[in-house]
Amino acid sequence: MATTQNETQENGMNGNPLPASKLQQEPLKNSGSIDHLKYVDVTPIIGREYPTAKIKDILAAPNSDQQLRDLAITICERGVVFFRAPQDDLTVEEQKHVTYMLGKLTGRPEGHGLHVHPLDNDPNNLAMADGTRDPNIYVINSEAMKKLYKTAKRPPLDQPRDLSREWHSDSCYENCPSDFSFLRMQDTPPSGGDTLWCSGYELYDRMSPSFRGYLETLTATCSQYELYKSACEVGGYEVISPRGSPLNKDFEFSPSHPVVRTHPVTGWKSVFAGAGLHVTRINGVTSYEDTMIRDYVMRLITRNHDGVARMHWTRQSCAIWHNACTLHAATPDTHLVDDGLRVGVRATGIGEVPYLDPASKGRREALGLPLY
Ligand SMILES: [Fe+2]
Repeated sequence: MATTQNETQENGMNGNPLPASKLQQEPLKNSGSIDHLKYVDVTPIIGREYPTAKIKDILAAPNSDQQLRDLAITICERGVVFFRAPQDDLTVEEQKHVTYMLGKLTGRPEGHGLHVHPLDNDPNNLAMADGTRDPNIYVINSEAMKKLYKTAKRPPLDQPRDLSREWHSDSCYENCPSDFSFLRMQDTPPSGGDTLWCSGYELYDRMSPSFRGYLETLTATCSQYELYKSACEVGGYEVISPRGSPLNKDFEFSPSHPVVRTHPVTGWKSVFAGAGLHVTRINGVTSYEDTMIRDYVMRLITRNHDGVARMHWTRQSCAIWHNACTLHAATPDTHLVDDGLRVGVRATGIGEVPYLDPASKGRREALGLPLY
C-alpha cells in the first residue's frame, strides 16, 4: 500500500511507520505550578493579566525553573501575559535571565540565546536609567527612535497616519526570529502609548479551510536589509553579528518565512509572515496578489478586536509575549500629551527557524472550541 511522505519519515518503537498525525515536536503541558497566582484573561482568545504577582517571587521559589516553564507555556498558549503590579525590584540581569530561561526551558535550539539589536553599535542608542548599556537590552524611547532610524522612510506629515503599519513581530527580519519578548515600562505618559497584541492563532482560525490551505503553501520575504545597511553606512559603524544565534549574522536580513507556522511549544498553527512591518513580499505570486493577501491578513487583524489584547502601561508594569503566535503594535500618540515620555527596556530571545508542521492543528480545533 502506498504511504504518504509524512508516514515514511519516522518509525515508531516497534519499527512500524508512525501515523501522519505525529507532530515534529510534542506540545508541552502545564504542570500547574503557577496556578496559585491570581489572574484574569484579557479576552477569551488572547492575553492573561496577573494583577498582583511578582516575578521576583517566581525567581525566589524553590521550584523556580518549574514555575518559569509553566509561565512560558502559559505565554505560548495565551500569546501575551501582563504583570500589572510594579516590578521595580526586578533587576535588569533578572529580566534577561527570565527571558533566557523561558526559551531554554521550552526547547529553544542549543546555542541560541538573547538577541542583540543589529544597530546596537549606533551611538544614538540610549543608555538605561542608571547610565549603563547592555547589548541584550533594547531601550525603547519614543524620542530616541527618530534618531536611530533617521534613514527610514517616514509617512507623509500632511496625511492622517495609518497605524496598521505598526503591526509586527519582533526580529522577523532574522533567519531565526524572536521567541519570547519581555518589555518593562519604566516611564509612562499620563495617557497614550498603549501596546496591542493580536493572536496569530485566531487569524488562522478566522479563515476558511480552503484559504488556510492556500496560505499554508506560501512563504514571504521579510527584509530589512536596506534599512540596516543604510543606517550602518551613514553612522559609520559595524552591524552586530552574530545576533542571538549563529544563523543570524552579517547583513542577512532578508529571510523567507512561512506565512503560516507551527508554534513549537503548543503545536498550534499561527499566521506569521502574512502581514506586518517586516513582511516585504509574499513569494511566488503577482504583485497584485501580494498586496491582496497582505491586505486581507491586515484586515483580519484590524477588524477582529476580540483577538486583540491591549495594554495600558502603568509604571514598572511588564508584558511578556511569544512572537511566533502574536503580532503587536505600539500606539504613537504620546506626542499629544504633556510629559509624554515613554521609556521601556526589552529583552528578547531567539528561537528556531520557523517551520510549518503539516500534522499541526489550529488552536480552536486542538482545544475543541467552536469554529466561530
Ligand atoms: Fe516590537
